[in-house]
Amino acid sequence: MDRTEATARVEELRRIIEQHNYLYYVKDDPQISDYEWDQLMRELIQLEGEFPELLTPDSPTQRVGATPLAFFEKVEHTIPMLSLANAFDEQDLRDFDRRVQQGIGTDAPIAYVCELKIDGLAVSLRYENGRFVRGATRGDGRTGEDITQNLRTIRSIPLAFNKPMSFEVRGEAYMPRRVFERVNKERAERGEPLFANPRNAAAGSLRQLDPKIAAERSLDIFLYSMVGEEALPADSHSEALALLEELGFKVNPERRTFVGIDGVIEFIAGWIEKRSQLPYDIDGMVVKVDSFAYQEELGFTAKSPRWAIAYKFPAEEAVTVLRGIEITVGRTGAVTPTAILDPVSLAGTTVKRASLHNEDMIREKGIMIGDHVVVKKAGDIIPEVVEVKTEQRTGEEQPYHMPTHCPACGSGLVRLDEEVALRCINPQCPAQIREGIIHFVSRNAMNIEGLGEKVVTQLYEHQLIRDVADLYYLKRDELISLERMGEKSVDNMLAAIEKSKNNSLERLLFGLGIRFVGEKAARLLARHFGTMEALQEASEEEILSIHEIGTKIAESIALYFSKPEVTETLNRLRAAGVNMTYKGLRPEEVDQDSPFSGKTVVLTGTLEQVTRKEAQQLIEGKGGKVSGSVSKKTDLVVAGESAGSKLEKANELGIQVIDEQTFIDWTKA
Ligand code: IVH
Repeated sequence: MDRTEATARVEELRRIIEQHNYLYYVKDDPQISDYEWDQLMRELIQLEGEFPELLTPDSPTQRVGATPLAFFEKVEHTIPMLSLANAFDEQDLRDFDRRVQQGIGTDAPIAYVCELKIDGLAVSLRYENGRFVRGATRGDGRTGEDITQNLRTIRSIPLAFNKPMSFEVRGEAYMPRRVFERVNKERAERGEPLFANPRNAAAGSLRQLDPKIAAERSLDIFLYSMVGEEALPADSHSEALALLEELGFKVNPERRTFVGIDGVIEFIAGWIEKRSQLPYDIDGMVVKVDSFAYQEELGFTAKSPRWAIAYKFPAEEAVTVLRGIEITVGRTGAVTPTAILDPVSLAGTTVKRASLHNEDMIREKGIMIGDHVVVKKAGDIIPEVVEVKTEQRTGEEQPYHMPTHCPACGSGLVRLDEEVALRCINPQCPAQIREGIIHFVSRNAMNIEGLGEKVVTQLYEHQLIRDVADLYYLKRDELISLERMGEKSVDNMLAAIEKSKNNSLERLLFGLGIRFVGEKAARLLARHFGTMEALQEASEEEILSIHEIGTKIAESIALYFSKPEVTETLNRLRAAGVNMTYKGLRPEEVDQDSPFSGKTVVLTGTLEQVTRKEAQQLIEGKGGKVSGSVSKKTDLVVAGESAGSKLEKANELGIQVIDEQTFIDWTKA
């Protein structure tokens, strides 16, 4: 490929990748598989490697994180980033409504837009000539920090537009609860201090000088206004939001317009109940006068606009008595304390246990047994102890001391360098082994149904399993003789274990619980090496050569496979017939020279000889990619029985159409 061709292809790839990022991250409607997306990225990375002069900061490859900065530049906000006045109850909202009516000089009901108040970090995104050039924090409202590199890692932020417009959009960057839980779990396992809530975690991630950290944190954003030279051709806030959405920005869908404050009040009351069901935290609702003309008339106070107000939710907190502290040992040996509480009702559920995270937290908060404590629901699931009500002490409270020895195996606990968590470092510790097996059978690992925490514990206590390989040597009669095990459940369990032997390599790799090897790393390794043997024999350098695998992971893998007991377990798994090969397509297996190579194919209508999935695999195996919708970029349409609108569109656009039989013939060509 020469430079001109490369330039064209790079541009095309960027457009396609960003379009799929948009479908995936903004519309939540992916139209290609992860594998196809990876293929596009690979091609782009390769071209940018060959032609470094083509690499620009707004390339989607740069979303994984550029080189670390030494410090953040300051950014002056030409239009200040203000905050909002607060309302705490219905009366405050009615007072606000009255002030608005008086300000405009009317008795007529006012149109308001009501939005969720996302609990994250306010940011401003600057676009110049259609390109995302700078992203900044709010700072003190006049001067913020330039966090462009970190914001670029947020995939729902468009990096470029077709039109050369210049403007600034503002919104709230946040960390979804699911990510927050994952990040804290990983931090607990590494013995690092935990984030108190998703907002702190988002702020902490965006203030990192190394953008790779932000990239790993899967942050997201909702935009809520546009300011600057080319503000939107809209007369109202609701229109502006719709236009922002059309431009490709992620705008929160849970917004409503009401005429008069009554509807607003009712809508807000509904969200107090529903907020815990959202996949992200909100700390209130924002009410804004819809009409821009009215907004202008109302203007600003020194700190905030007169045309908007933030309604703050009552905190999801409750007070109860802490009766005791229970210690659990995780898969990696990290020891975590859990508070045992008098049951208390909190945000619709009864809470009996709450996380205390680690010893430092118990000490910092001065928690004693018998204390009245404030519990708060962080995110959706894990409640935590946030504060001690020292004024309610009676003198009966007992200080708590972390154990010096592992409650499961009795060996001395240690605190590794720079870690907050205490660890049991005995590799034979039964608690760690049991947790490791629970991880192995879990849904995202080997997915062995009917083998949950309880059954694993039971099998472990009866000494039927000592490591993951033992699962494949369980005997039917041994199992039936156990308590609470019927013939049927034993047979189902054995069938599920048998079925798991066919899993593709990445599940096994993830299930082994190698430190720092999460699902993504497991997939990358499986795809790169193809077999367990190849990985076992690989050097640290070879593992490091995989894009997105860093030294920490590579070192951990090399150390893992150097252990004789690991070799032994793998040999026994292999002997039991557990599959150790990757079942997806490997990079070198893609046919580069077929009627499908490099083509975008759309499948439509009913296929009779193959399923959609099989057809897709056939096309991908021949170097093509499958897309969900027909457009000018489509090269080929495979039309099965009763194909409808996609076929019509293909004909309109003059795209080549073949029937199922021709398709089958071509796949054999
Ligand atoms: S409008 C002129 N809308 O809440 C201020 N703010 O004090 C315009 N926030 O700093 C802000 N969700 O970070 C607005 N839908 C939303 C919001 C929102 C969250 C944050 C924002 C701001 C703070 C208000």
